[in-house]
Amino acid sequence: MITVIGSLNMDLAVQMGIFPKQGETVFGEQFQIIPGGKGANQAVAAARLGSQVNMIGCVGTDSFGETLRTVLQQEHIHTENIATASVPTGIANILLYNNDNRIIVVPGANYELKPSHLEAVKEVIQQSQMVIMQLEIPMETTDYALKLCKEANVPVLLNPAPAANFEMRWMEEITYITPNETECSLLFGDDFDEVLSKYPNKMILTLGSDGARYFDGEYPNHIPGYMTNAVDTTGAGDTFNGALAYALVEGQSLDEAVYFGNIAASLSVEKFGAQGGMPTLGAVYARLAGLEE
Ligand code: RIB
Ligand code: NA
Repeated sequence: MITVIGSLNMDLAVQMGIFPKQGETVFGEQFQIIPGGKGANQAVAAARLGSQVNMIGCVGTDSFGETLRTVLQQEHIHTENIATASVPTGIANILLYNNDNRIIVVPGANYELKPSHLEAVKEVIQQSQMVIMQLEIPMETTDYALKLCKEANVPVLLNPAPAANFEMRWMEEITYITPNETECSLLFGDDFDEVLSKYPNKMILTLGSDGARYFDGEYPNHIPGYMTNAVDTTGAGDTFNGALAYALVEGQSLDEAVYFGNIAASLSVEKFGAQGGMPTLGAVYARLAGLEE
């Protein structure tokens, strides 16, 4: 069982051909309201591949909250530990422009996920094979989750996004950390070779379509990505993280698991929406098989 402790957001996504300047009004091309949130996305990514997933988070009592819960249930994710609070469900305003995305998150109910809730569901957390976290929940809650995992020796995969909610002292408690280049520069510095060599087999630097890098204790490793036609890169990182967790729990080596994550992410960007395009196990194997030919 994989437990995700993290956010659930409704994504309000606008696709545009012109990016407005300050004070300017432009027409967008499309608007969609679709499920997201880094926590929920990573949960869906792992569940589609076949992991048993338990989601811990918090939504509001509004219709967005209800929809987000239902969507996870349809993915066979355990939702009984998702709390409800009387503040609006988290939303993410997503601007899609030129194959790029800019995201503004308003955490809402996600910030009502408190350590007391984790304490109440402590057993579920401590019996997990792996816990996945991101940083769209209160820092005190992340802190408490790490404490519970340490107590029970549960491996933790932390995706440090958004980077502003990261604390350096957590490095000791984390098993795997998966920053992208922006997050890595902000938190650890620009000399990626040096940074990676400080955290062997622990820090996996994600490089978008270029794949990912980590240091294996002896050598730097660059695990290639898969070039594809991206229609929407939102959630690519989440797919990578969910797939990485799936693969590690299945017993794959770090090397294989990172490659597996890259392939899963490449499939996810071919469809619109964070959760749209997240592959099943069969789809990942099909692409891997194609590569071996
Ligand atoms: O990583 C993509 C996600 O970030 C979106 O689904 C959005 O909700 C934000 O949390
Ligand atoms: Na997608």
